[in-house]
Amino acid sequence: MLGMSEFDTLGDTYERSAVELPFREHVERHSVRQAVGDVTGLTVLDMGCGSGIYTRRLATWGARHVTGIDVSEGMLATGHEREHAQQAGVTYLRRDATRPGPAGDPLLDGTCDVVVSVYALCYAVTEQELTGFLTTARRALKPGGRLVAMTLNPDYGRGVRYYAGYGFSLTQHEEGEGAPVTLAATLPGGLPMSVTARWWSHRAYEKAASAAGFARSSWAVPTVSETGASQYGSAYWTAYLNAPQAVILNATVG
Ligand SMILES: C[S@@+](CC[C@H](N)C(=O)[O-])C[C@H]1O[C@@H](n2cnc3c(N)ncnc32)[C@H](O)[C@@H]1O
Repeated sequence: MLGMSEFDTLGDTYERSAVELPFREHVERHSVRQAVGDVTGLTVLDMGCGSGIYTRRLATWGARHVTGIDVSEGMLATGHEREHAQQAGVTYLRRDATRPGPAGDPLLDGTCDVVVSVYALCYAVTEQELTGFLTTARRALKPGGRLVAMTLNPDYGRGVRYYAGYGFSLTQHEEGEGAPVTLAATLPGGLPMSVTARWWSHRAYEKAASAAGFARSSWAVPTVSETGASQYGSAYWTAYLNAPQAVILNATVG
């Protein structure tokens, strides 16, 4: 049973944040692009695709076929609307990726060269859900395939104003695995946006990847694009890059 999600009404706002918050364009998009590498001709799954920002980007970056999966009906509706308007040639499926079924998923399993996932793993509420996300990704991959997952950095900058210069805040009232972390942003024009993710340690992600059957996992930190550095000046990015709010988990199938 797939129920309501906090993302259901966020599609358009989330799309706006991807272009209006400079870190999303110049750090997040740039770093995901670098980590994903050459996808020309590949089949790619975008897990927790939301409104399809990266689903469409992956098609633009040369992937032969891209499928986006998400649990939120509202986010997928925005994805379908954009697909109707832009004809990126991508496909969307509604799935709860934290709950891979015992019978597998005939439309997805063993079909992908790469799984990309941007800010989805950190919405697992329990360790079981985290392992579920990674199991969905691992099952989708062909032998030799890889996962590139951007998620909340366990070592993000503490202090509610740490990211104020970048247009958002992170608030965490309790510590420990699975603790809620609320990201709040105000987009130009005063439009508020707030979502609550979960804090997981590097170890929790690595353990879940291993339990899901990934042979190896490693971490990469985001970098800023040349355009971002020249447009805003390198000093603007110093605090962000000293404690980025996101990190990238790379995991490979044996
Ligand atoms: C912060 S948004 C990121 C969306 C997209 N990856 C992007 O970067 O634009 C997180 C997304 O993860 C999705 N998500 C959360 N839990 C999920 C689950 N159990 N299965 C599939 N998608 C999930 C949410 O519905 C939401 O669309």
